[in-house]
Amino acid sequence: MNELREILKFFGEMGAEFLHLPGSDPRADLAELDREIRQCRRCRLHESKTHYVPGEGSNRPDIMFIGEGPGETEDQFGRPFIGKAGQLLDKIIQKMGMKREEVFIANVVKCRPPNNREPQKDEVETCLPYLSKQIAILQPKVIVCLGRVALNNLLGTSHSMGRIRGQLLSFHDTPLIPTYHPSYILHKKDKGEISRTKWEVWEDMQKVLALIPRKRT
Ligand code: URA
Repeated sequence: MNELREILKFFGEMGAEFLHLPGSDPRADLAELDREIRQCRRCRLHESKTHYVPGEGSNRPDIMFIGEGPGETEDQFGRPFIGKAGQLLDKIIQKMGMKREEVFIANVVKCRPPNNREPQKDEVETCLPYLSKQIAILQPKVIVCLGRVALNNLLGTSHSMGRIRGQLLSFHDTPLIPTYHPSYILHKKDKGEISRTKWEVWEDMQKVLALIPRKRT
């Protein structure tokens, strides 16, 4: 018992807020976290949201996709990436030879920022522990950050996506590959510049697949 106390103290001092022990049931831990998120009042975003959007998918995913925050459709239905950007993400996942239920999809903030504005620093700071817990429970083989906001808030960096996309980074020893947000691809489409951005995302997804040996297109 004393030994366990010492180990927990050590991880606490290392900054771990949540310790998912090998062998513990990810479903139960995830359900508990889900309940916690759905009662959250830690920042102003809970006041304007319609539904909390904790995230969804496999509880032992090879890939975890992380976006910025719920949009209007996601807020309406309480599910991540189900609007236009989500439909494009579904196509990307399908093209990777996978099903949406096999991956996990989450966001940096779990409530919609009003008018789809970028989440503010204090909102991200209060919400980020939920994402860290999700990652600790899910233990994905690879994290894919969709867009600059997800990447820089998760890593505490200020990268430009154009420069950093497709590079192999890591979050607490979990490989992480950043790529463009699906909304950016759609925005480029509107400007008639879709093919290059789409191709770049596809190139990045090949790198993701290479980290999961059994998944090949
Ligand atoms: N954009 C995001 O970043 N997340 C969603 O869930 C939907 C759109």
